[in-house]
Amino acid sequence: MATLLETLHDDHKNYAVLLDLLSTEADKLEKGDEPDFVRMYDIANYMVSYPDTFHHPHEELIFDVLRALDPDCSAQVLELNNEHKQLADTGLALRDAVNGAINDAIIPMDMILDNARAYINLLWKHMNMEEGSIFPKAKSTLEDTEWQMINDNISQVEDPLFGDVVQTQYAKLYEGIIQNTDTSLLFNNHR
Ligand SMILES: [Fe+2]
Ligand SMILES: [Fe+2]
Repeated sequence: MATLLETLHDDHKNYAVLLDLLSTEADKLEKGDEPDFVRMYDIANYMVSYPDTFHHPHEELIFDVLRALDPDCSAQVLELNNEHKQLADTGLALRDAVNGAINDAIIPMDMILDNARAYINLLWKHMNMEEGSIFPKAKSTLEDTEWQMINDNISQVEDPLFGDVVQTQYAKLYEGIIQNTDTSLLFNNHR
């Protein structure tokens, strides 16, 4: 069975693929071309629904234990926890703005572009700090008893996009991922 850190790492690989797709749509918008607003909506909707509800809270359980064992990590943990809030806020703002554009509301395209770029940049920076610094520290600091305690407190919920079954609301997004991505970059249960 994959350890929690391995699962979080695999999630990051999938998020990187989504960020690349989002970036492609942001590039179109920047050039004045029509982006695929539905794809942008689906990406933002997934990010605020699954990662913000499960991936980030699971990380925070690890961070809390790490900070208690190694107070030198406190500043980084605080930064990462703040970024989880910022990611949730920016993801919601992006989803709502794109939803407005889909429904013919008057939404400045700059607002969508700024939110998309901010989200992409922040999540990349954030994942790099986790992968490059905090995950290795957690791996070397936490013992089996701590991992067991964390595992006992996490919610086992199937990923609606990359899990065993792609939920209907994400079917179109999943199709777009398969058509536009080197699927060896993905971690999912469909390979
Ligand atoms: Fe995180
Ligand atoms: Fe993460």
